[in-house]
Amino acid sequence: MTADVIDGKALAHKLRGEMTREVSQLKDQAIFPHLTVIIVGDDPASKSYVNGKKKASAETGISSDIIEMPSSTSEDKLLEKIYELNSDKTVHGILVQLPLPVHIHEQRIIEAINPDKDVDGFHPINIGKMMTGNDTFLPCTPYGIITMLHSYGIQLEGKHAVVIGRSNIVGKPVGQLLLNEHATVTYCHSKTSYLTSFTADADILIVAVGKPNVIRSEHIKQGAVIIDVGINRLNDGTLTGDVDFESAAEKASYITPVPKGVGPMTITMLLSNTIKAAKGLSY
Ligand code: GUN
Repeated sequence: MTADVIDGKALAHKLRGEMTREVSQLKDQAIFPHLTVIIVGDDPASKSYVNGKKKASAETGISSDIIEMPSSTSEDKLLEKIYELNSDKTVHGILVQLPLPVHIHEQRIIEAINPDKDVDGFHPINIGKMMTGNDTFLPCTPYGIITMLHSYGIQLEGKHAVVIGRSNIVGKPVGQLLLNEHATVTYCHSKTSYLTSFTADADILIVAVGKPNVIRSEHIKQGAVIIDVGINRLNDGTLTGDVDFESAAEKASYITPVPKGVGPMTITMLLSNTIKAAKGLSY
C-alpha cells in the first residue's frame, strides 16, 4: 500500500478562503476582527512563528499587531499589558507566544488572559470546557489535526488512537479531542516502555515528539493513519517531521507530510479562533 498524502497546505488554503469571505461579511456589520500577539525576548524561531501569524491574519483580512517586549520584562509588566488588552474592546484575540523567559511564570500569564480572548485555548477554563466536550476555543494544533481527519472522511469512532507526546499544547489536548470523537486513546511518552507494542496497534497514530525519524515502517500497522506533528530542522537547513515519511507511507493508508501537513493547519485554526472571538462566540 502507498498512503494517500493529507495535504494540509491545500486544506488550509481552502479554509482560509472561506474565512476571508466571513471576515468581509463581519466588516459589513462593523465587526473588525483583531488579534494581538505578544512576544517576549528575541528567540528567532518564536519571531518567525509570530510573523507567520501576522501574515496569515492579514491575508484573511484580520488585523493584528505584535507587541515586542525585551527578555528582561518583569512578570508584572507583562501582566499589566495583558490586563490592558483584556479591557480593550477593539482586541478580540490575545496570544502570548511561548516559551517565555524562565523568570516569568507561564501559567500565571496564561491564566491572566480573558478566557473569551484566549485564541490559543490554553486557559484552564477553556481546557475544562474542551474536556467536558463543550464549545470553546480549541488549542490550534489539535484543532487543526481533528479538522484534517474530518475533512478526509477518516473515521474516528471506535478506532484506537495512539498519541506519542504529552505536552499541554499538542499531546494532551489532541488525545482529549480524539476521545471526544469516540476514539479509544492511548498516550505514550518518553517514559513509555515497549513503545512499539502500542504504536503497532494504532489505527491512528499522532506523533508529537520533536525528534526526526522516531517512527518508521516497522513501528506501524498496515493501513494506519499517521499524523506527524514534528517540525525538525536538520543541519542542512531542511525541515523534517518525527516520522520517516518514505518508509511509513509504504504501510499507512493516510499520512501527513512535513512541511505542508499539520503546520499550515495550526495557523489556520488560530484565524478561526480569532473570528470566533470577534463574533463573541467563546462559548
Ligand atoms: N509556541 C509554540 N506553539 C505555540 C502555540 O500554539 N501558541 C503559543 N502561544 N505559543 C506557542
